[in-house]
Amino acid sequence: MKKIAVLSGDGIGPEVMREALKVLSAAEKKYNLSFSYAYADVGGIAFDKHNTALPQETITICEEADAVLFGSVGGPKWDHLPVEQKIERVALLGLRKYFGFFANLRPAVVLKPLCSISPLRGEIVKEGFNFLIVRELTGDAYFGKKYSDANQASDEMLYTRLEVERIARVAFETARKRKKKVTCVDKANVLTSSIFFRKIVMETALQFPDVVLDFIYIDNATMQIIARPQSFDVIVTTNLFGDILSDEAAQLTGSIGLAPSASLNEKGFGLYEPMGGSAPDIAGKNIANPIAQILSAALMLRYSFAQEKAAQAIEGAVLRVLEQGYRTKDIMQKGCKEVGTKEMGTLIASGL
Ligand code: IPM
Ligand code: MN
Repeated sequence: MKKIAVLSGDGIGPEVMREALKVLSAAEKKYNLSFSYAYADVGGIAFDKHNTALPQETITICEEADAVLFGSVGGPKWDHLPVEQKIERVALLGLRKYFGFFANLRPAVVLKPLCSISPLRGEIVKEGFNFLIVRELTGDAYFGKKYSDANQASDEMLYTRLEVERIARVAFETARKRKKKVTCVDKANVLTSSIFFRKIVMETALQFPDVVLDFIYIDNATMQIIARPQSFDVIVTTNLFGDILSDEAAQLTGSIGLAPSASLNEKGFGLYEPMGGSAPDIAGKNIANPIAQILSAALMLRYSFAQEKAAQAIEGAVLRVLEQGYRTKDIMQKGCKEVGTKEMGTLIASGL
């Protein structure tokens, strides 16, 4: 029996989460697995009830679980909060720091049936692409010293050797199971922290002679993933650059509503969440795309529970439903059948 902490959060979080749980329950039956769910408040809803976006009780529930399935947090209702109470910052950065989720895996895969909704030209996207961004998640400007007064403000971009070594190892180890290529994305032509990051990645590479390593500056990387997405296998990068690059990559796949992510700590404990936010404008309308949440659940089966078969089955079911022409509003195409959040979840669950 695996215990899953379910943190649905705000906006579309709860409705897409319901669909992911539907699919997990289908996977349970098919693969003879057994899950129990512990629900906890996070984000704006937690702030309203407990006066903080990350209550201690929620942390405890996560600690007692084998994995965390996370929805999304934040919304206009809480936008006025001062920086130290900001929903995304308290909830997401709080969980990342507390559990040490340093490795953020963000796959960028263009699914065949969705080639034509990619903003990339047909000739670029027709061969498909499949790369993985390994974003460092607990360092950089996000967690460095902050300073501000009336006339100036700063965020320190700090990386330690240990932090770079461990994210580099994750990238090389992951590349070994893929096309054995790692691209380090940094700004080593300007930033001292990037020069350091690059140097430690290079040193770590010596333990992985079977993996090819190359380097590219972040500004160039934003162009190359558009011009030549096929040239990437695994990208390893710092927290801030990874944040930006992964949104760009998600859009290349057609919709951020398709993009899952995994955040892992040194013990292999993981949090799984869609890359997109809480999308308050479409919440409660049964139009949100549940696929990112469903694929996040598949990543949980893969990385936390070592259920590769079940993970692939979910990914396969998503692909088949898309091949059959079903689409949520965000990925709607001519000649396809538009379905709502619930219908999409049901189709994928029964497709298993
Ligand atoms: C993400 C988000 C977060 C980040 C924000 C909401 C704190 O954009 O997970 O990519 O910047 O890491
Ligand atoms: Mn982001």
